[in-house]
Amino acid sequence: MKIVFVCLGNICRSPLAEGILRQKALNENLLVEIDSAGTSGLHAGSPPDSRMRATAKKHGVDIDALRSRQLTKKDMQHFDWIYVMDSENYKNVCALASNSTEKGKIKLLLDEPYPMQNRSVPDPYYGGEQGFTEVYTLLDTATDYIIDNIKQAISAKK
Ligand code: 4NP
Repeated sequence: MKIVFVCLGNICRSPLAEGILRQKALNENLLVEIDSAGTSGLHAGSPPDSRMRATAKKHGVDIDALRSRQLTKKDMQHFDWIYVMDSENYKNVCALASNSTEKGKIKLLLDEPYPMQNRSVPDPYYGGEQGFTEVYTLLDTATDYIIDNIKQAISAKK
């Protein structure tokens, strides 16, 4: 199972999702590949935003070592599930898909906890502290659903 989270800059939302899911997978002894990337390469090579790192740390999640990178066409082949944070990401990631199989891997993350509602994880970059806490809560909820999906996929393979 290979999972990638995608946002715009890969310095706020998607690295936090990566960090939270990695910790939950470790706690549950689930062997999965987890990564994150941005649709833009604007912040490539940079660590997550300091406000996001602080929010993560407050909840016992360490994302300091992560570095931003841009999503590539190769990623569309490599990963099984591609979770995007908002509808703009969805559009941009769809443009990287080479065929319907790749397109079918792309899912709006909040469709997991809130199916059919077309909800987005709000971009906290230009806002205040509260935005980062809200993102943490949404991602904590959504990653619980992904852990269940992983368990189901593993038991379906047995
Ligand atoms: P992210 O947040 O997509 O959650 O990493 C953003 C980071 C940087 C910018 C926008 C959103 N920016 O415009 O530089």
